[in-house]
Amino acid sequence: MQRFIEALATIEVGEDATRLFHGRGGYYPGCEHLCLDWFAPVLLLTSFTPLDAAELAECQQAITARWQTIQPNRSLNLVYQYRSGGETFSQVLAGEVPDPHVVTENGAQFQVHLLRGQNHGLFLDMANGREWVRAHARHKKVLNLFAYTCGFSVAALQGGADEVVNMDMSKGALAIGKQNHLLNGFSAGARFLGHDIFKSWGKLRKLGPYDIVVADPPSNQKGSFVATKDYVRLIRHLPELLAENAEVLLCLNAPELDTQFLRQQVEDAAPALEYLERLPNPAAFVDVSEEKSLKVLRYRLKA
Ligand SMILES: C[S@@+](CC[C@H](N)C(=O)[O-])C[C@H]1O[C@@H](n2cnc3c(N)ncnc32)[C@H](O)[C@@H]1O
Repeated sequence: MQRFIEALATIEVGEDATRLFHGRGGYYPGCEHLCLDWFAPVLLLTSFTPLDAAELAECQQAITARWQTIQPNRSLNLVYQYRSGGETFSQVLAGEVPDPHVVTENGAQFQVHLLRGQNHGLFLDMANGREWVRAHARHKKVLNLFAYTCGFSVAALQGGADEVVNMDMSKGALAIGKQNHLLNGFSAGARFLGHDIFKSWGKLRKLGPYDIVVADPPSNQKGSFVATKDYVRLIRHLPELLAENAEVLLCLNAPELDTQFLRQQVEDAAPALEYLERLPNPAAFVDVSEEKSLKVLRYRLKA
């Protein structure tokens, strides 16, 4: 806890949503369970184990003190979320959470929901992936698999994509994705398909081929996608979806599976894909073990 309190002395908030303290990265021994995020105008304290009353009070006091130093004229909005026995609990410790709650990232706007379970609508560690798509999407046709609230799609359209196809089996997430498009002024250019990807290869082929494909699946969602057995089933279908010179971003957020796991699967199941690079994670997500952190691998269809 002491390391967290010390680290607070250096945090600053700007306008964009960002991680402020990444205990999970392992650089603060004893604080691996703690994260602090900024979803303006709200600070979100997450603990992956429940804090006892004294620990929580200590954290809240330290956050309040830092807030008063860096934002003396602004009242503090603070949400505490903790995980326990597979469940997620959220409570507002100070101030309030706007509804709707819209945050910014690199000129894009996204709706987030801090009080609705463990996923908030915007994965902050994927900021560089969205940035890459924004920078390379001009005049491209993009397929966004496991689209969730369509952050990649908004980034692609901002970057000048001709068309984006979003697919996710969660119609609720896609509905927020549609709102995200409207928030950013995109009333056309994107499709939102609420299907199981593994039952939709024909449809995806028909709407292709694509110049950029992003696949960002969950690591282990029982019944829908389990990386150890399903990633290879996905990779096998990629070449049939790709246009000439197409690029693919394959994402993996499973600490127990390393880069080599994914590279081997591609080598075995889609040798037509050539490995280019691993995108760096945002600096705020620095990890003592690079292999445990988010992996975003870039591939190109061989000529
Ligand atoms: C890690 S999230 C994706 C995050 C998203 N790419 C982003 O940048 O915000 C995983 C998503 O995969 C979806 N999903 C899981 N299994 C699926 C399947 N078999 N077919 C379609 N969607 C699936 C879930 O509904 C969830 O929205």
